[in-house]
Amino acid sequence: MILVTGGAGFIGSNFILDWCNLSDEQIINIDKLTYAGNLMNLSSITQSDQYKFYKVDISNNELILEILKKHKPRAVINFAAESHVDRSIHGPRDFVNTNIMGTFELLEAVHSYWTNLHDSKKGEFKFMHISTDEVYGSLLKQDPSFTETNQYKPNSPYSATKAASDHLVRAFHKTYQLPVIISNCSNNYGPYQFPEKLIPLTINNILKDKKIPVYGSGLQIRDWLYVNDHCDALRVILKEGKIGETYNIGGLNEKANIDVISMICSKMDKQISANKESSSKNLITYVQDRAGHDKRYSVDISKISKSLNWQPKESFESGIDKTIKWYLDNQYWVDSVMTGDYIEWMKKNYSKIS
Ligand code: NAD
Ligand code: TYD
Repeated sequence: MILVTGGAGFIGSNFILDWCNLSDEQIINIDKLTYAGNLMNLSSITQSDQYKFYKVDISNNELILEILKKHKPRAVINFAAESHVDRSIHGPRDFVNTNIMGTFELLEAVHSYWTNLHDSKKGEFKFMHISTDEVYGSLLKQDPSFTETNQYKPNSPYSATKAASDHLVRAFHKTYQLPVIISNCSNNYGPYQFPEKLIPLTINNILKDKKIPVYGSGLQIRDWLYVNDHCDALRVILKEGKIGETYNIGGLNEKANIDVISMICSKMDKQISANKESSSKNLITYVQDRAGHDKRYSVDISKISKSLNWQPKESFESGIDKTIKWYLDNQYWVDSVMTGDYIEWMKKNYSKIS
């Protein structure tokens, strides 16, 4: 049995769904269900004996320790986090609370559980911490890609809190020998991504005939990875990754934001052109740049590809096609997650353009 945190979010729910498709091993999901957590993502497995859900905050170390003692997982994978850079700029406190304090409390619970395991089980156990390439900061166009030895230089409250959590995870290994592995991944896209992030926001705004906000020049570069490729990398790391190591995961897919948006517009124009009078590109609206906006992320995946033989399988073209199709087929999902908290937040922060 394995236990994941944040499994009702974008990457976590894709990871759980893939897990249940590919293995019979039981999986437990601990999630606080913030605006980004949606149990609807997991409706296909809710009734399965293979899956169990607990609505718990990772900061609640007593309850988490109880759950760990009850189910005795062989691994814990920590996806839970506040994950949206723009939200971290407008309100960093939740990021400090969950990403730093929450990870600390989770580590305390896992450390206590692991310490009391029988020696044979202790040797098998792994704590995997899911992190981001954003901890390395921003690159210029000519800079080499991030390797695992790059200095941490986070620029946003999001990346700073993720960096702090990575350091805590590392410290629990160095100080208490907790068997940890950290992975730092580039930008993911695919089904179930909350429509506040660039790709689902673009698709959704085209569908709703709303403006597509492009921050600053639109020339910022991200390295895009299809979410199922990320999940695949995490299964490989869980199986064969070395304790105490850090692995970078990336898509070998650097694209400027404006090129990503233009590509989605062109593809969607072909699919929904019957209902539209003009190109979706007319919806593109340049807006004020994000504060502290990182110019470029690029991930060197030599380590994971050489030592664990992992490579991304999906091309950007095929991944975007699948993603657009998923959002077209699941508009009820988008509409139902965009309620309450999200709408209030959007009203406050996007009132100028929407
Ligand atoms: P997400 O925002 O979609 O989901 C986060 C999940 O964590 C939600 O289900 C939320 O309810 C849950 N959560 C938040 N605070 C919690 C708490 N205190 N206790 C328990 N659960 C809590 O995020 P995501 O995009 O799925 O990202 C998952 C992880 O991967 C994060 O750690 C993120 O930093 C990392 N990551 C994301 C990307 C990306 O492109 N999305 C890239 C690299 C790394
Ligand atoms: P985002 O999806 O928020 O991911 P991250 O900030 O973690 O990279 O943003 C991806 C890029 O797209 C980033 O450079 C900011 C930009 N962006 C826009 O130009 N407009 C938008 O509406 C959003 C949400 C992002």
